[in-house]
Amino acid sequence: MRFRDKVAIVTGSASGFGRTTAARFAEEGAHVVIVDVDETGAQGTAELARGTGGDAEVVVADISTRAGATAMVERTLARFGGIDVLVNNAGIAQLDTTGSWDCTEEVWDRLIQVDLKSVFLCSKVTIPHLQARGRGAIVNIASIAASVSIGGAAYAAAKGGIVSYTRHAAPELAPLGIRMNCVSPGFMRTPMATGERHGLTPEQQEERLAAMGARVPMGHTGSTMDIAEAVLFLASDEAGYVTGQELIVDGGYVVR
Ligand SMILES: NC(=O)c1ccc[n+]([C@@H]2O[C@H](COP(=O)([O-])OP(=O)(O)OC[C@H]3O[C@@H](n4cnc5c(N)ncnc54)[C@H](O)[C@@H]3O)[C@@H](O)[C@H]2O)c1
Repeated sequence: MRFRDKVAIVTGSASGFGRTTAARFAEEGAHVVIVDVDETGAQGTAELARGTGGDAEVVVADISTRAGATAMVERTLARFGGIDVLVNNAGIAQLDTTGSWDCTEEVWDRLIQVDLKSVFLCSKVTIPHLQARGRGAIVNIASIAASVSIGGAAYAAAKGGIVSYTRHAAPELAPLGIRMNCVSPGFMRTPMATGERHGLTPEQQEERLAAMGARVPMGHTGSTMDIAEAVLFLASDEAGYVTGQELIVDGGYVVR
């Protein structure tokens, strides 16, 4: 068990990558903190985590606000007494891919707030507690949109910001014993990517996924487990000398 008695916070863990990642941390012995705006989904993840024998706490909070990020840390400390790992995973998509450079200011502001500022806010409030432990790991979820044009310019700007933030913060955090890395998923099967959250019918979702998979050298979309395993690796001692890196998990799309 790589995370026995470690405390791991996973934001956006009511669904998708976050849910699988939280369950995998629990399976590896961690106490997991499931943070999301979706309480029902978060409780579902907590049940999954407890089903593996792990301990789980649900925090319903909007991590794109200072108040939400602070509540996340306070509840974690009250329940588990410290923090070892933070996974900044919560995010929203931009599906208005036609002319996305010209999106409304509201769309731009919301994507930057939820997808980028949340990473800064949650890191800012968590780092002093990782420092108190003398070590810790942060894994941010970016996207291949940071590297290649796949539609959604505001989303890409936010995700590119995460990669840059990670590269710049990591050397400053290294002397504190804290590592920061990011994972950039490619085309993956989650409610965000299928278009389910944007009202696409099941047939339209399957068409969308098939079209995505056809563009990938490996010939198919990826799974939530593909991302969870990359996150656990970067958070673990196996990656103890790895910091400031972007691990791209995309079936070869970016290098095709
Ligand atoms: N699915 C993909 O193909 C893909 C590809 C690249 C990157 N990503 C990134 O991976 C991360 C997870 O995405 P997913 O595909 O699992 O999506 P998802 O929609 O299944 O899960 C995202 C979760 O974040 C939560 N969330 C959203 N805004 C929040 C907020 N302000 N506060 C708290 N929780 C909030 C949602 O309620 C949801 O449970 C996101 O950052 C996303 O941008 C996804």
